[in-house]
Amino acid sequence: LRIDELLIPEEAKKIIKESSIQKLYPPQKDALLAGALDGENLVLASPTASGKTLVAELCIIKHVLEKEGKVLYLTPLRALASEKYDELKKYSRLLNRNGGKIRVAISTGDYDSSDPWLGRYDIIICTNEKADSLLRHKPKWIHEVSLVISDEIHVINDVSRGPTLEVVLTRLKDINPSAQFLALSATIRNAKEIAEWLQAKSITTEWRPVKLLEGVYLRGVNHFNDGSVVSIGTSDYKDPPINLAMNVINRKGQALIFAETRRKSATISRKAALALKNVLTKQEKKVLKIISEKILSTGERTRISDQLARLIQNGASFHHAGLTSTQRRIIEDAFRDGRLKIISATPTLAAGVNLPARIVVISSYERYESGYGRYPISVLEYKQMAGRAGRPKYDNMGETLLVARTEDERDYLMKSYILAKPERIWSKLAVERIMRSHVLATIASEFTQTEEGIYEFFDKTYYAHQYDSRSIKKVILEVLRYLHRQKMFDVDGSNIFATKFGRRVSELYIDPVSGVTIRDFLTKRVNKVTELTLLHMVCHTPDIYPKYYPRKKEMSELEAYIKVHLEELAYSIPDELVDKIQYEVFLGEIKCARILNAWIEENTEDDIMETFSIHPGDLFRLVNTTEWLLYASYELSRLFNRKDLLPQIIDIRNRIEKGVKKELLPLVSLDGIGRIRGRILFNAGFTTTADLKRAPLKELTNLPMIGSTVAKRIKEQIGGFVKKDEWDKVKEDKILEQTSITDFN
Ligand SMILES: Nc1ncnc2c1ncn2[C@@H]1O[C@H](COP(=O)(O)OP(=O)(O)OP(=O)(O)O)[C@@H](O)[C@H]1O
Ligand SMILES: [Mg+2]
Repeated sequence: LRIDELLIPEEAKKIIKESSIQKLYPPQKDALLAGALDGENLVLASPTASGKTLVAELCIIKHVLEKEGKVLYLTPLRALASEKYDELKKYSRLLNRNGGKIRVAISTGDYDSSDPWLGRYDIIICTNEKADSLLRHKPKWIHEVSLVISDEIHVINDVSRGPTLEVVLTRLKDINPSAQFLALSATIRNAKEIAEWLQAKSITTEWRPVKLLEGVYLRGVNHFNDGSVVSIGTSDYKDPPINLAMNVINRKGQALIFAETRRKSATISRKAALALKNVLTKQEKKVLKIISEKILSTGERTRISDQLARLIQNGASFHHAGLTSTQRRIIEDAFRDGRLKIISATPTLAAGVNLPARIVVISSYERYESGYGRYPISVLEYKQMAGRAGRPKYDNMGETLLVARTEDERDYLMKSYILAKPERIWSKLAVERIMRSHVLATIASEFTQTEEGIYEFFDKTYYAHQYDSRSIKKVILEVLRYLHRQKMFDVDGSNIFATKFGRRVSELYIDPVSGVTIRDFLTKRVNKVTELTLLHMVCHTPDIYPKYYPRKKEMSELEAYIKVHLEELAYSIPDELVDKIQYEVFLGEIKCARILNAWIEENTEDDIMETFSIHPGDLFRLVNTTEWLLYASYELSRLFNRKDLLPQIIDIRNRIEKGVKKELLPLVSLDGIGRIRGRILFNAGFTTTADLKRAPLKELTNLPMIGSTVAKRIKEQIGGFVKKDEWDKVKEDKILEQTSITDFN
């Protein structure tokens, strides 16, 4: 089926063909034959890179161009949302039936808003979590949504992200029963079951654009699933993943190596860099040098950025959630452009962005998670990693190799992964911890006003479809008891309705237990409220996750610290003899508060890494959550009449956002000025924006880290007189300091 033959507007065809797509891939054809363009609900389960997005795009075109519909595109990650946004923006050149331009929006931040502005947009891309929070605010435009696309719906299986997705889809279906639902999924065993739940047709394909050979590597020999055995020898590189990768590099390919831990991924990339060093051309090294300089000039310099820069110069890199989002983006782009030859990543990359490679090496089929220890990965995870092999426009084949150490292991891997079918997807919804928030939302947003209504709603979830209604009802009952005890809703006859507290907690999109934790602090008297008190309050909530467990050698220092600051603690210390675990969790909360304190005392990222063994990526996620919880605390302080705390909360929230002492707040409010430049300006005597306004341009550009571009930007924001020749004299330069940390995941 050719694009030209499709029943969609000509201008849309033109745009599709511009991305050099002429004919439909088989799964795309299947989807259209099943009625995708006629409003059929569909679950399309198909391998990585088999073109599921285009099916979504064609449906979008139908809805927006021909039906004046509105599209909600849901993704599990912020990074994926922005990838989709970039892909869909090309349609904003088109006109809808009323002659207006198609508008595409992305919304992933601020969970306390109905974003009424989204009402003006035709295509809205957001994360599942953002959609959940939007639904709680009941935006009017939600009723206009005529097409819901759920990308990567197999995420339902995920313990932490799955339940939200499930509830969002149930809710959307409840509100807009006539909307079309299009769910896209990796290949899974029970796509049909999900389809039944969504009253959709299911299409499952194994088709992929590039042939994929899957095999096991043992002592220099690849044993493939098609029966072929290929020896690559072990003479050149001892280390199996490096040996496999270099074998492909020598044939002008690129390699993606999956490692079980962050530490392993770093070790492997070091070995990769050593191996690559001797095979790169001068020209290649020159380009890599530029990329490594880019890594050094974004954000603060840390041992990680130094490490990355050294590796990248030699064509290798590691990639994991401890990196900042900017670092990750630079690395991904460099790999996509073919500059970087080898990336060694933790499995988080497999579920993320589109990053194909000629060969994927899975160096260990075990996965490590702190708190859980070691366990074998699932077939689904394996398939997701394996599916990254083969770059559509460059390779005619992709290879995936699992590394085995013995014959037995080779046979085991062949049987349990390569020849195995992926697992079924199971709902993870019916857990009290998770249900609290969703039950509260159901009441607070007045989706129902009776207890019966709550059961009816959750009876429509995938969980109820897959298991039975009774077991989820039991959990709901427990949750209702808790929420009622905590005064989050009231009962009047057969009616239930949220209290102001309950409604606000639901809207603020925090765990109800966090709401209770904050309220309990606000409604009891505390001797002395300092920064530590507020940080401790936040760190005590379950929304701060993962928890920080103190290491053995940190214990006594933390205990000494607590002794000195006893009066400032927000909650009292559990008795070590009664509950040792509780006690250690408590110490962990204090540790967490100290990390945040170090951040706002302007310790460098590198110092914080060294002192607390926490990677910048983790620090930024912690900072982001803390900022949100402080916003929630501000809102709840107003509700519980603690106006006395408001100024303090505002201050510390701003400081957390920027990572600065209070005196720097006026300076860092400027665009382009982050914690580092702010400090440089302050120490040079420019302590207010008025000082900056008076300063001659030259005096600013003389300072380190303040180039002409930054100086200009300062002046443009605060006014002040600059002579023309002064403007002309300053040269352009392009090094930008990261000024806010609002973009993670
Ligand atoms: N019919 C086609 N002809 C040529 N290229 C295509 C066609 N359809 C899609 N592509 C290209 O294939 C690539 C992968 O497509 P897409 O991102 O939709 O994969 P996917 O099925 O969503 O995979 P994943 O499970 O990884 O998300 C894209 O670069 C896309 O432009
Ligand atoms: Mg996709």
